[in-house]
Amino acid sequence: MKNLFSVTHPCPSHEGNPEHGAFNNNHKSGGLCASRLERGGGVCLTNSPFGWCYRATIKIVVLMFLVVAFVTGATAQGVSIEHGWQFAKGDSSQWSSPAYNDLNWKQIDVSKPWEEQGYPQYDGFGWYRLHFVLPSSIKEKAFLKDSIRINLGVVDDNDEVYLNGKLIGKYGGRGGDIKTSQYGPRSYTLAANNPAILWDKENVLAIRIFDTGGDGGLYGNNHNINMLSLMDNVTINTDGDFYFEENEGLSKTIFLSTGSNYVYKGKLTFKVTDPETNTVVREGTNDVLFTAGKPFNYTFTIDKLPKRSYRLTYTFTEEKSHDMMVKNEGTPYVLTPYPSAKPRINGPDVYGARPGNPFLYLIPATGKQPLTYSATGLPDGLKLDSKTGIITGTVAQKGDYAVIFTVHNRLGTKTKKFTIKIGDVIGLTPALGWNSWNAFGLTVNDQKARVAAKTMTDKLSAHGWNYVNLDDGWEAAQRLASGEITPNQKFPDMKGLTDYVHSLGLKMGIYSSPGPRTCGGYLGSWQHEDQDAKTYGDWGIDYLKYDWCSYGEIAPAHPSLDEFKKPYQVMRASLNKIPRDIMFSFCQYGMGDVWKWGAEVGGNSWRSTGDIEDTWQSMSTIGFNQIADGPYAQPGHFNDPDMLVVGKVGWGDNQHNSRLSPDEQYTHISLWSLLSAPLLIGCDMGKLDRFTLNLLTNDEVIAIDQDALGKEARQSLKKENYQVWIKDLEDGGKAVGVFNTSDKYQTITLKTSEDGLKGYTKIRDVWQQKYLIADGNNLTVKVAPHGVVLVKLSK
Ligand code: GAL
Repeated sequence: MKNLFSVTHPCPSHEGNPEHGAFNNNHKSGGLCASRLERGGGVCLTNSPFGWCYRATIKIVVLMFLVVAFVTGATAQGVSIEHGWQFAKGDSSQWSSPAYNDLNWKQIDVSKPWEEQGYPQYDGFGWYRLHFVLPSSIKEKAFLKDSIRINLGVVDDNDEVYLNGKLIGKYGGRGGDIKTSQYGPRSYTLAANNPAILWDKENVLAIRIFDTGGDGGLYGNNHNINMLSLMDNVTINTDGDFYFEENEGLSKTIFLSTGSNYVYKGKLTFKVTDPETNTVVREGTNDVLFTAGKPFNYTFTIDKLPKRSYRLTYTFTEEKSHDMMVKNEGTPYVLTPYPSAKPRINGPDVYGARPGNPFLYLIPATGKQPLTYSATGLPDGLKLDSKTGIITGTVAQKGDYAVIFTVHNRLGTKTKKFTIKIGDVIGLTPALGWNSWNAFGLTVNDQKARVAAKTMTDKLSAHGWNYVNLDDGWEAAQRLASGEITPNQKFPDMKGLTDYVHSLGLKMGIYSSPGPRTCGGYLGSWQHEDQDAKTYGDWGIDYLKYDWCSYGEIAPAHPSLDEFKKPYQVMRASLNKIPRDIMFSFCQYGMGDVWKWGAEVGGNSWRSTGDIEDTWQSMSTIGFNQIADGPYAQPGHFNDPDMLVVGKVGWGDNQHNSRLSPDEQYTHISLWSLLSAPLLIGCDMGKLDRFTLNLLTNDEVIAIDQDALGKEARQSLKKENYQVWIKDLEDGGKAVGVFNTSDKYQTITLKTSEDGLKGYTKIRDVWQQKYLIADGNNLTVKVAPHGVVLVKLSK
C-alpha cells in the first residue's frame, strides 16, 4: 500500500471502559462539570516519536507543540535499530535462521520504503535482517524489568518477525486474515525472559514482509528496542467531544486509563495557554489514581474564549517512577454563522447528466422547515418533488437547460438560477460526500453506511453533500460460479442499501481495483470489468473509485504511459455500456502524471497523491504540493488530493479525534476548496461534533469548491512561513487563501497589487461571512499557527 508522505499512525488501541468503575474526580477548578462521559480510545501500546502516543521515561520533558503528541526525552532505556539492516527480495524459509549467511545481502535504509531504494514498483515478498547486541544494562536501569518492546516503524503491508530463528509475532500475511492485513505502525512486546532473546550477545532479527501494492517494506522513524515503561501502558484519552456551553465556553472530560494491573498514582496538570502570547491563562493540578478497568476521568470547563484556538496541555506524572506523559490539543472554535431561518438555496450552479440515463438531483436548501420547492424550465422528462426537493426522471435531449429553482417557507421565498447540462460530461463540479475509508477502513458495513446516509440527510445535504461512498471491504471472498461479484456478509442487501440512499435523494458509491485484489486484499475487477460494471448498474451505483493496488502484478515493472492508462480505459469502456451516470474516480496516486491524461481516459477525478493521514505533515505536504497538476482541473475532471481527515477518523474499529488542530482543519477545508478537490468526508458520521459540523456546513466556503468555472487555485506566493493561493471564480471574483505555515502567530499583509488582485476592493471573509476593511490596497490579517484566512475578492 501507499504512504508517500508521512509515517505516523494512530496506535492500535484496546477499548477502555470509563463508564464502569471510574476512579472519580470531582474536579473543582471552575464552572460546570459536564456529566456526559465519552467512551472510546484506549491503551496505547506503540511508540511513535511524532505520532499519537509515545512513551516518556524521563523527568525532563522537551515540550513540542504538536496538537496531539506525546513527548519523550533522550534517556529512553533502549537501543536503536535504525541502522545496519540488510535486505533481499523474494522468499526463503532459511532466511529466518540466525545461522544464514547474509553477507551478500544489500544494505537498506529502514526509514524509506524499498521502492525508493532500488526496487521500484516491487510488490511481493522481501526480507530484512539485522544483527545487534541487546545489553542487559537497559534492563537494569529500567523501572519495570519484565518486558521489551520491538518497534519496527511502519510495516507495509504484512510481516512475520523472527528473533534468533523463533517466530515472535506476525501481522496479516498473504492468505492470512485479510481484515488485519494493513500497513501501519508495528510493535511487538516480549517477556524479558523469553528464551528467544540473547542478552549481551549477538541477536538476529529477521523480518519477512509481504507487500500487496504501492510502497512496501519497513519505513518510518521509530525503530528501536526498549524496556516497557510504566507509561507504555497508559493512555491520556482526549477523544471525547468538547461541549459548547451556553456562554460559548467549553467543557470536556478526558480519561487516564491503563490495561495494566499496576495502580498508577500521581498528578495530572491541566494548562491552558494562549498560543499567540504563550501565556498560561489557567493551570491546575489534581491527584490521580487509576488501574486496569478503573480509569480516572477529569472534567473541566473553560469560560467563554475569543473565536480562536487555545492550547490545552495535560501532563501526567507518576509518583514512584517520576515518568511523565504529556498530551496537547487545541480548543475548537466555530466561525460559520448559523444559517438563517429564511430559505436559501445552496450547492453548485450547474449539474451535468447524460441523455437517457436516470437523473437524480436534490436541491440543497436551508431554512426553517417545512420548505416547498418549485422549478421552472426543467427539461422534459424531469419532475420535482415539491416536498423533498428531489428531481428525478430521464432527459432524452442533449442541451443546456436554464432552470430557476424556488424554495419557499413561511419566512420568505428564494430563487436561484441553475443550469442542467444534458450531454457527455458529468461531475461538472467536484463530488461532495462521504467515503468510509478514513473512518472505518475495512470494517465498513451496511449499518455504518446507513448512519452516514441518514446523517447526511439530517445535517449535510442541505449544503450540497450527496455521495455515500463505500470504500474497500464490501466484497465477498469469492465470485459466484457465473463470475459475478457479490457483497460479503456485512452487506446483506446492496440493492436495498442503494435504494435507501436514493430515496433520500443521495447517491451511492463503490470501490474496486483493476487488479485481481484490492489494496485490502478483497476481490478486484481484473478480467471481470464488464460483469462488475453491469452489477454496479443493477444495484444503482453512482460512483466508482478504482484503485490500482494489485494491478501492479499485472502491469510490467516500469509501465509505459499506455500501460498506466490501460486498466482505466478498460473499465471506462465497461462503464460506458451501462445505462447509468457513474462518476469514475481514478486512484493510482498520481503515477504517470495522471492529471495530464485522466480527462482523456474518462476520469471525473484522479488521485494526485499517496494516502492522507490526520497529521499536519501529511495534510500540508499533500495540499501545498498540488502545483503541477493544478492547470489540468476543469469541469468534469478534477485532481483529488485524497479524502478529508476531519472529525473522528480511525481506518478501522477505533476512531479518534482528528490529530489536526482546529486551525489545521480550517486550513484543510479551505485549501481543498481552493483546489477544487472532491470533498469526501472521512469520519464516523454518527459522531459528528459541533465543531466538525460547523466546518462542513459553510455555504460560502463550499461555493468556492463548487464554483462552476472548475479552476484550481494557483500558489501565488510562497514564503518560508506563509503562502497565498488564488482561485479564479465564475463570477469574475477571486478566492484567496492566506496560509500561515509556521507554528507561531503571524500578521500577514496581502498586497493586492503584487498578487494580481488590482481593483478587487470588496473583501469578504468567507468563514465568518462578513466583509473586511482593507487598508488601501492591502489586507492585513492575523493568522493562527497552521491556520488560514480565506477571503473572496470582488471588484
Ligand atoms: C488505498 C487507497 C485508499 C483506500 C485503500 C483501500 O490504496 O489509497 O484510499 O481506498 O486503498 O484498501
